[in-house]
Amino acid sequence: MSASYEVRGEVAVITLDNPPVNGLGHATRLGITQGLARAEDDAAVKAIVITGAGKAFSGGADIREFGTPKALAEPNLLSVILALEACSKPIVAAIHSVCMGGGLELSMGCHYRVAAPGTQVALPEVKLGLVPGAGGTQRLPRLIGLENALNMIVSGETVKSERLAAMPGQKLFDKLIEGDLLAGAIAFASEVADARPLPLVRDLKVAHPNADAYLQFARNTVGALSRNLPAPLRCVDAVAASIQLPFDAGMKKERETFVALMMTPESKALRHAFFAERTASKIPDVAADTKLRDVKSVAIIGAGTMGGGIAMNFLNAGIPVVMLETKQEALDRGVATIRKNYEAQVKKGKLKQDKYEERMALLRTTLSYADLKDADMAIEAVFEDFAVKEQVFKQLDAVMKPGAILATNTSTLDVDKIAACTKRPEDVIGTHFFSPANVMKLLEVVRGAKTAKDVLATVMALGKKIRKTCVVSGVCDGFIGNRMIEQYSRQAGFLLEEGCTPAQVDKAAEKFGFAMGPFRMGDLAGNDVGWYIRKRRYVEKPNLRYSKTADLLCELGRFGQKTGAGWYDYKPGRRDAIPSALVDDMIAKHRAELGIAPRKIGDDEIVHRLVYALVNEGAKIVEEGIALRASDIDVIYLTGYGFPLHRGGPMCYADTVGLFNVVQAMRRFARNPHDDAAFWEPAPLLARLAADGKTFS
Ligand code: NAI
Repeated sequence: MSASYEVRGEVAVITLDNPPVNGLGHATRLGITQGLARAEDDAAVKAIVITGAGKAFSGGADIREFGTPKALAEPNLLSVILALEACSKPIVAAIHSVCMGGGLELSMGCHYRVAAPGTQVALPEVKLGLVPGAGGTQRLPRLIGLENALNMIVSGETVKSERLAAMPGQKLFDKLIEGDLLAGAIAFASEVADARPLPLVRDLKVAHPNADAYLQFARNTVGALSRNLPAPLRCVDAVAASIQLPFDAGMKKERETFVALMMTPESKALRHAFFAERTASKIPDVAADTKLRDVKSVAIIGAGTMGGGIAMNFLNAGIPVVMLETKQEALDRGVATIRKNYEAQVKKGKLKQDKYEERMALLRTTLSYADLKDADMAIEAVFEDFAVKEQVFKQLDAVMKPGAILATNTSTLDVDKIAACTKRPEDVIGTHFFSPANVMKLLEVVRGAKTAKDVLATVMALGKKIRKTCVVSGVCDGFIGNRMIEQYSRQAGFLLEEGCTPAQVDKAAEKFGFAMGPFRMGDLAGNDVGWYIRKRRYVEKPNLRYSKTADLLCELGRFGQKTGAGWYDYKPGRRDAIPSALVDDMIAKHRAELGIAPRKIGDDEIVHRLVYALVNEGAKIVEEGIALRASDIDVIYLTGYGFPLHRGGPMCYADTVGLFNVVQAMRRFARNPHDDAAFWEPAPLLARLAADGKTFS
């Protein structure tokens, strides 16, 4: 039973006990109703307290039951809440630490609520593309008012209990209890033991001086802010029902909305993304209880763009950093950039001055490898040149203490070859951060052929500590994300040759939901980066066809925003991408040289060529074991490449379209004489799944 029962004096205490966060799984729900029945039957019990064991009151639904029959098995959460309301003895919810989703809905079914300060309270269902489904949209407005409830439900954001308790007129918390919560709750329960009639939230009325106008305003703002997601607007509708309809009719409205949203592709995509992110940290052949190495300090080699950003992650997490460069000027420049970044945060009020100073105090710099000897880990972020990295790793090997982890931030070089420069390849691993490294959530953790399991487990845990979303990648050119983006870029190039302008391609991609189309992205990241890589890559693979337009652009010195011109023109100091007549001419000229007559290409074709290029390469990556699972690829694209969240990532999107349809489209693209037939040869895994009517998931 995942809820315990005991009687203290005249008060029965039901304690939810389903680690880690007392999710309301079937056994827990059953435990609550059985506890209620015992309390009803015991004449000595005058009141009941419901609380949570360990680190939470309740985090809501037990996500391990999602999609299983147990999730719906009676008593479901609605039935449990009805049982609470029907109880003849007063029930006090004693809320602490975490009270979210179904946990908050459960507490609102109780007659009274007392809370510990610092409790994180939320109805986060909207983040999974849903509305709260057990009365949250009807009861919360009755307790904290229409506007406060709407804000919480539409945003899904967490609010601290003391802030809620301070809201004028709120009835959510009858009392905030400092110190021993359970003792306070039991004392409170004794006080109200004889109170009759028992207060029910459903009997309260929602009042608002100008509800219609307010709700219209809310619909306008929420609609504009959540263009691709239906749930936020449906949240407004459900909350509106709390003031417009009687309680039971409002509950019916909430239920219908919940069920309808459950079926939408957007909610499926958001739920997929949620589970994909949790799954990404699991590595089948590395035991969850692998003993981790201690990483109490980190050395960073190279204080350039990436080195500085990487350093900030550790400083933010309170981990001391020593940065090494070959020249004092480079160190000074690196430190100045870090300072500038922090100072901008201080100015915006996002970082307190004393925190800033605390973080800077953790940073040391050096020109000497001898100063790295006490660090538990080194992360190399020097020039992307094997000879330079080789020198660095030889010196790290010579000075770092035994057991120290040696990581490289290389984006294209072979991690195994880098590991082979040392006498301890088992301690070497890739940590591929994304730029700007202090902002981007994604971290590709590159597992070399010889990387020790505990090194991998340690880096995954460390990544989490510095608040990154970590995904494991095997060793290959470009790892997962950039290997796939290369195919996407190749298609973007072919589209230009066949008749598109950069702006047309970008617009189609952005309409699909990408944060940025491929050409705006190139201008932001710097077109020279790809140019440099292509020079190497296409020498190695002379038969690989790609469009030369990007090379022609770079030959004009148009590297993007940093040179004031790229695929687009830029006005000094501004980031608005202005379509460039010069670039359009350049493309037209190149097209003519290739003898291609331009044709009008529709948005659907543009988007599908870009996205299916990702999908096909992704399928190869899964089959080769470079990615552990297709959903890891989705995590990478959602967190590192601006893939639209409501599509769930490229592999999830392909599943939604249907793999059969994806393969059909690829066969169509292969017949285009200006595309590359070999490019569209379906990956064996994709072909197999499509033929068997299966999906990546
Ligand atoms: P960067 O040119 O901004 O910085 C490199 C720094 O390394 C310079 O400050 C340089 O003085 C220093 N350096 C060079 N040789 C050194 C040596 N022997 N010892 C110590 N320091 C040395 O380059 P960036 O962009 O920071 O790239 C660093 C690494 O990160 C490269 O491997 C790159 O491929 C990778 N990377 C870059 C990304 C980006 O978007 N810029 C993204 C992901 C990875």
